[in-house]
Amino acid sequence: MSTLVVYFSLDGNTKFIAEKVAETISADMIELKTSKKYPTEGFKKYFWGGKSVIFGEKPKLINERIDWNRYETIIIGTPVWAGSFSPPIKSFISEYKIYGKRIALFASHGGGGAEKCFSKLKKALPGNEFVSEIDFVEPKKNPEENSLKAARWAEHLAI
Ligand SMILES: Cc1cc2nc3c(=O)[nH]c(=O)nc-3n(C[C@H](O)[C@H](O)[C@H](O)COP(=O)(O)O)c2cc1C
Repeated sequence: MSTLVVYFSLDGNTKFIAEKVAETISADMIELKTSKKYPTEGFKKYFWGGKSVIFGEKPKLINERIDWNRYETIIIGTPVWAGSFSPPIKSFISEYKIYGKRIALFASHGGGGAEKCFSKLKKALPGNEFVSEIDFVEPKKNPEENSLKAARWAEHLAI
């Protein structure tokens, strides 16, 4: 089964999980990169990131063209931003109009908003089959536990 893990990560938490998931099931992996860089420090990070979600921004992706249709399963990973998914994921969804795929979702967050984030993601991706979703609370703070959790989830997805 061919699987793609596609994710955005500002601080490395979602990246940490994406790498574990991709490694566990030998999936291809793409990190979404934007031409506009979000601040990574302090108040600015929350302000500009939050504003970007609220204004429905779709920052320009600088990745090479993504051949999503080659894959049977697409695993999408995002940090929760303001109770939603991060704007680069919005760009990805808008640019590629994915349909007819098995989709699994994962999110990193600081303690809340994953449910809302997942339900918004599902709404934004009509015409796909959602097979699983899982969230992680600041996974880099607990790397061993979360790495195991990510690997187990990935194995169950591959069945
Ligand atoms: C702009 C912004 C908004 C956020 N909003 C939420 C939120 O609504 N709920 C939450 O639990 N965490 C929120 N967080 C925290 C991140 O989801 C959390 O730190 C996550 O692990 C970051 O993932 P990353 O390291 O892959 O970027 C927010 C962080 C940023 C930068």
